[in-house]
Amino acid sequence: GKVAVLMGGPSAEREISLISGKAVLGALQEKRVDAHAFDPAERELFDLKREGFKSVFIALHGRFGEDGTVQGALETLRVPYTGSGVMGSAISMDKWRTKLVWLAAGIPTPKFVMLKASSDWDRVVAVLGLPLIVKPVHEGSTIGLTKVSRAADLPAAYQLAAKYDALVIAEEFIAGQELTAAILHDGPTATDRALPLVRIEAPQGNYDYQNKYFTDDTRYYCPSGIRAEVEDEIREVAVRSFRVLGCRGWGRADVMLRPDGTYSFLEMNTSPGMTGHSLVPMAAKATGLSYADLCVEILAGASL
Ligand code: DAL
Ligand code: MG
Repeated sequence: GKVAVLMGGPSAEREISLISGKAVLGALQEKRVDAHAFDPAERELFDLKREGFKSVFIALHGRFGEDGTVQGALETLRVPYTGSGVMGSAISMDKWRTKLVWLAAGIPTPKFVMLKASSDWDRVVAVLGLPLIVKPVHEGSTIGLTKVSRAADLPAAYQLAAKYDALVIAEEFIAGQELTAAILHDGPTATDRALPLVRIEAPQGNYDYQNKYFTDDTRYYCPSGIRAEVEDEIREVAVRSFRVLGCRGWGRADVMLRPDGTYSFLEMNTSPGMTGHSLVPMAAKATGLSYADLCVEILAGASL
């Protein structure tokens, strides 16, 4: 049946979603899927029903598309969709509540403090040390994020994040290797599996918006080159981190690995980037799964 690839949308990550969506659309068409682009910023979701779409590939990022909102609408319309359901999407979009769930489940995550305009900045620095990370709770692609190296810069970092979100979080900075774990649902065995880790080396250690999508200076390693026991453990914990949030279908956990072998889970992405620079496709490729086959596999997991 007809498949809609949802892309664009109204979030701050619209630009990236359009890149992801066009790539997914092209790949599905290459595999002879009857796929069409659908931008919910321009059209009513109800048109999906009216126009006879049988399932949806969600290539939206950020709020509205990745936070349970679209998922709830599709549940109501009874149109199967890829990826996590309402609850897993909603919790994962919220970096604060994600951490609360992970802490309860024994999954290591960086120390954090919620910030307010009236926060005692010196106390925040005393608790988290420097540098520290300030970010909006509900954004992706490092939008609104600042690495703060001097205490005097903390209020401005808060102000920037607060432009994007009513909730702002400060987090301990973890110096170490930046890793990501893609998680895919395996239909035939009905289990979730973590793909080989991808290790990221961004210029000056800044894996920011520019270095994520638009420079060719960021280096990616898959195989990651980290110790096999550590790699295996992180992959196993990644699957647990996914399940405990109630995620399904596919996702990507971002992880920092310290030189001493300990690690911290930063966040879960339930509609990860699918651009030419994106990480899930890289990990899939390392296991012999082409970009187009990955898209077909994700689509096969579409459900209600
Ligand atoms: N939020 C971006 C799209 C990602 O996690 O890949
Ligand atoms: Mg993210």
